[in-house]
Amino acid sequence: ENYKLITVNTPEEGAKYVYNMIKEELEQNRLHVIGLATGSTMIPVYKELTESDLDFSGVTTFNLDEYVGLSASNPNSYAYFMKEHLFSKKPFKETNIPNGTAEDLEAECARYEDALQASKLDIQLLGVGENGHIAFNEPGTPADSVTHVASLTDSTLGVNSQYFENDEKIPETALTMGIASIMSAKKLILLAFGEKKRPAIEKLLEGKVDSEWTITYILNHPDVTVITDLTDLKA
Ligand code: GLP
Repeated sequence: ENYKLITVNTPEEGAKYVYNMIKEELEQNRLHVIGLATGSTMIPVYKELTESDLDFSGVTTFNLDEYVGLSASNPNSYAYFMKEHLFSKKPFKETNIPNGTAEDLEAECARYEDALQASKLDIQLLGVGENGHIAFNEPGTPADSVTHVASLTDSTLGVNSQYFENDEKIPETALTMGIASIMSAKKLILLAFGEKKRPAIEKLLEGKVDSEWTITYILNHPDVTVITDLTDLKA
């Protein structure tokens, strides 16, 4: 296998592992651009980073995705999440998140992909959805996909709407980096905590690329670290 499987006892321990990887890359002057993810999985990671003295003032960020129609001031937007958990506490050189309120969404996707490819991701952090999606690349998304408008599946709408505040209805579409966008990063770090992620991680460990489980595309990447608290799993 190309990937490294790290099992930890708690999400906090996993977050510490990610922190150490990021620290090492920064110290070796190999981290200039980092791809970031949202979701509960990332909260302990961002806590580690904000409580540290690591200096990100030379680092540019690109987030994976954003809901269509939600602005940065909306508490349910990913831009708001990033501000709350990371950007308000740590200065970065520049932060990028797809603009879900852009008038021309296709043009926004093209602009975002161009910016991404001009910058080149050194590291991409990833979580995983219960149906195996990475970013919002839902089952069936092709390997050559770049940043695009995605329709969310009923499964994703059900899972993610639990976190929606103020009785707001979850948007049915999102802007997301594609599989090829993600695969262009030099290093991938995927985190999966809790039993709900077991089917996706088991699918990954089967070792076969299956477009119905988009997490499995990362099997084709040369530098992947998977961190999970499903301690009974073996690579
Ligand atoms: C969303 C995001 C994914 C994320 C997933 C898991 O669907 N688009 O990037 O990996 O949620 O979220 P959580 O970490 O809350 O389980």
